[in-house]
Amino acid sequence: MSTVILGIESSCDDTSAAVLRDEYLLSNVMASQEVHRRYGGVIPELASRAHQQNILPVVSEALRQAGVGMDEVDAVAFTRGPGLLGSLLVGTSFTKGLAVATGKPIIEVNHLQGHILSHFVKVEGRENRCPEFPFLCLLVSGGHTQIVRVDDPLHFEILGHTIDDAVGEAFDKCAKLMGLGYPGGPVVDRLAKEGDEKRFRFAKPNIPDLNYSFSGIKTSLLYFLRDRIAEDPGFLEKNKADLCASFQKDLIDILLKKLILAARQTGIRQVAIAGGVSANSGLRSRIEEEGRKRGWTTFLPEFRFTTDNAAMIAITGYYKYQAGQFASLDIAPLSRAAEYGDQ
Ligand code: KG4
Ligand code: ZN
Repeated sequence: MSTVILGIESSCDDTSAAVLRDEYLLSNVMASQEVHRRYGGVIPELASRAHQQNILPVVSEALRQAGVGMDEVDAVAFTRGPGLLGSLLVGTSFTKGLAVATGKPIIEVNHLQGHILSHFVKVEGRENRCPEFPFLCLLVSGGHTQIVRVDDPLHFEILGHTIDDAVGEAFDKCAKLMGLGYPGGPVVDRLAKEGDEKRFRFAKPNIPDLNYSFSGIKTSLLYFLRDRIAEDPGFLEKNKADLCASFQKDLIDILLKKLILAARQTGIRQVAIAGGVSANSGLRSRIEEEGRKRGWTTFLPEFRFTTDNAAMIAITGYYKYQAGQFASLDIAPLSRAAEYGDQ
């Protein structure tokens, strides 16, 4: 007997719903919120209002594309957190309402666990390579930067994390300093391809253990730009691509240094990346290059599974369904990762 899971994601500014039959993806529908672009960042109140408007059409469309009715769904998995509280509340309340109306069980999902398990979503007719356990996952998003040891789908250990900004935040803040718009990560990625990554160097952090820091590089870029623009007002415009290539390389160097250390310390050679920044082409090719040198087997997510999506919530829900881990109807969202204890 197969298991059908409906997944719902609403932690930040994307409303998404997906349907899986066992590990196989039947649909993955997404409504992104353009409204935040003009403010240069996500405005929580606008995000939650847009989720309210989007959630019903997105869920209906996901069921329609999957060709399943609510009566065939075995459980509804939803993102409990971390994320923006107002956004999480929309997905959580909608899921609870659906459960009351249909009698279906509900499953809470940690968004970060979802990003990692996106590697296990299978697509009919594809090769569907998955990491073997235990594996290391470099989780890089707009809100988090972690090195995670994954022992099985439901058991994780965070080996290292950022002590200040997330790497996606560093991409976005550096892009903002250069007037590149929001979110800056994809723009930096594009410009970096045309630039010389050896041209400029910025301050590198010196943080112990497997932890990260990304706030210094932004400050370093800020003062560097201030001084150079004072000498030549056209500096930024003339050097955009080289600047992007250079600080992108610095960010990737910082990420790789600790990931290599983690692989050495644990002896684990199955290495994956996940989260929004795992779409970065520079990071993707560096992971593959380092992997070849060091005998790692590397796993890069498909682009559509790098950013926030409900397929990753549904696959996590699927594993929790197998383990009988259901939530009660009085469940509330958790906005901070720390509220999950060791996750
Ligand atoms: O995982 P995600 O969609 O949302 C969070 O859970 O935070 O990640 C969003 C982050 C943003 O900071 C965005 O700039 C970054 O991922 N990002 C990228 C690229 N695509 C998205 N950063 C660098 N290069 C990219 N190609
Ligand atoms: Zn995310």
